[in-house]
Amino acid sequence: MVKDKILVIGASGQIGVELTLALRKVYGNANVVASDLREENDLLKGTGPYVSLDVMNKEMLHVQVIRQNITQIYLLAAILSATGEKNPNLAWNLNMQGLLNVLDIAREEQIHKVYWPSSIAVFGPTSPKINCPQQTIIEPITVYGISKYAGEFWCNYYHQRYGVDVRSLRYPGLISYKSAPGGGTTDYAIEIFHAALEEQKYTCFLKEDTYLPMMYMPDAIKATLSLMEAPQDQITVRTSYNVAAMSFSPKEITTAIQQFIPDFTIAYQPDYRQTIADSWPQSIDDTTAKKDWNWQPDFNLQLMTADMIANLQHV
Ligand code: NAD
Ligand code: SER
Repeated sequence: MVKDKILVIGASGQIGVELTLALRKVYGNANVVASDLREENDLLKGTGPYVSLDVMNKEMLHVQVIRQNITQIYLLAAILSATGEKNPNLAWNLNMQGLLNVLDIAREEQIHKVYWPSSIAVFGPTSPKINCPQQTIIEPITVYGISKYAGEFWCNYYHQRYGVDVRSLRYPGLISYKSAPGGGTTDYAIEIFHAALEEQKYTCFLKEDTYLPMMYMPDAIKATLSLMEAPQDQITVRTSYNVAAMSFSPKEITTAIQQFIPDFTIAYQPDYRQTIADSWPQSIDDTTAKKDWNWQPDFNLQLMTADMIANLQHV
């Protein structure tokens, strides 16, 4: 039996750090190669192999895949929603060409499995706001959302046409304490914890009643590993699966934090990210993920808040 050897691209990012560590637990440290354009994240140092890699350089990527005998690729390098609006060309180029480079190499080298995350950002103002279904009207208004929606169809195409086993999740906003977020509209839900603990006050860039779908990082890692471990015949969605855990507004997370830090106060100063948030659904229907590979989250707002504060207090 061939032992799997995994390449994580974008391993120094918010998800990459935790996903690399989780994959190393399952597959063994030496069998998970972390890679990124920027330097190795401190939390990864000493836990396994690291290579410096630009996903836009297809030749370099191809060489690494062959040299390291890679059998699975996790592609996490991307420009997120808020940063994407500042530089649409850069976001489109990286988010599209990076994916196409990986899919091409996966086809040529018969890579066993590819993981590529999509986002709730595929949905737009015309999508249903509450319990947004797996299949519905999808008209994204950000370059990030457009690139994710196009990416979903490239994944589906490479699966249908070339048999590449590429799988994907539409992550909600992800909340974590181990690594910093990378420029998304949902980043306020992480900043707020740091500000509450350090200064007992926070100025939020979204309005108090802006509800968005969110997920705690341990659940995002669990969902990713469950999807990737599921037998092929259980995967009925080859674009990207809706997944959900919780939905809350800045006002609600403030109340949850005040249970632990009663003096915490919040002010609101909405900026360009409000328009992005307003275009996304408030909650997501993930019935298909539940049915296909038994998806079930462990954390709600209260459990996530308690865990975030406990962990950040010990840093
Ligand atoms: P991030 O910005 O924290 O990390 C991305 C990493 O990719 C960074 O370390 C960056 O240095 C690296 N990178 C950028 N350009 C590269 C290149 N050319 N070659 C190699 N590496 C490069 O992002 P993240 O939050 O960890 O997101 C990972 C994936 O998950 C992205 O596809 C993102 O769209 C998706 N996603 C994230 C969230 C979230 O809330 N974090 C939600 C939905 C979807
Ligand atoms: N958290 C991400 C963002 O805000 C959603 O994809 O961009």
